[in-house]
Amino acid sequence: MSRPRVFVTRRMPAAGLDRVREVCDAEIWPGEMPPPYESLLEKVRGADGLLCMLTDRIDGSLMDAAGPALKVISQMAVGYDNIDVAAARVRGIPIGHTPGVLTEATADLAFGLLLAAARRIVEGANYIRDGQWRTWDPNALLGRDLSGATLGIIGLGRIGRAVARRAAGFNMRILAHSPSLTSESAAEANAVAVDLETLFHESDFVSLHLPLNAGTRHLINRMTLSQMKANAILVNTARGGIIDHAALVEALRSSIIGGAALDVTDPEPISPDDPLLSLPNALVVPHIGSASQWTRDQMARMAAENLIAGVTGQPLPNRVPAG
Ligand code: DGY
Repeated sequence: MSRPRVFVTRRMPAAGLDRVREVCDAEIWPGEMPPPYESLLEKVRGADGLLCMLTDRIDGSLMDAAGPALKVISQMAVGYDNIDVAAARVRGIPIGHTPGVLTEATADLAFGLLLAAARRIVEGANYIRDGQWRTWDPNALLGRDLSGATLGIIGLGRIGRAVARRAAGFNMRILAHSPSLTSESAAEANAVAVDLETLFHESDFVSLHLPLNAGTRHLINRMTLSQMKANAILVNTARGGIIDHAALVEALRSSIIGGAALDVTDPEPISPDDPLLSLPNALVVPHIGSASQWTRDQMARMAAENLIAGVTGQPLPNRVPAG
């Protein structure tokens, strides 16, 4: 019997790629950059399976270009806002993703950003590099205490709860908001369930842990930013599109809020000329929430298993809800 033919849109950790190659005839996009959309259209033609990244636009036209052989779309990420889920559903193509394995790594980064912004760690390192450090100064680089401060978590799912665990260890008070959050499930995460307005009003730090969709796009906008405390620090390790970046730049420039620490931006990559990057109260890193060796190996493995299940007619171990 012939082996399934699959296209993998980027070189990925061997932990996953070797597994894919055991079962499938795989073509792997060799570039460091994602394949341009036109190349994707060409490469998926006749493929049984597609293993893609969050940097690929996977829409109905692409699914049609693949043709009737396409049995699965397996994304090496937990988020899948780059995939037209409705288009896949009407074509009967299951989508796989990688929940769970990146929870701790992403929570580590969210908390690291929070701490770095609160204590001005990157500014401090640059202060030395720029030759400004002349003496211990009782007034220099004063930051914010975490202990006793209030953290507002928007989206108390797996990653939000993992951030809450870290915050509890730092003696923070935790508020949380999720659409169907009950007081009981919030309490299990050491948090108090509140409405969004209360969360914005009372939090010293606000951390976002939501998927990007029509309901969450620009949840953080000029109006919601104005509800935050004047010294609030906003942390985003979810998706850039949850924040209206023009409104954020304005809020940071005019001290509507105190600072922002972002792992994700809209667009990605952010342009080196973007005004955010010139603001002293913005800390931006390049979407590295899941970027630990163990985590990326696990993500690659899960994506491979989803792909293999799909091309061999088995249920996907981790399937995106059909929506
Ligand atoms: C995901 O899996 O959605 C993350 O954003 C990758 O870091």
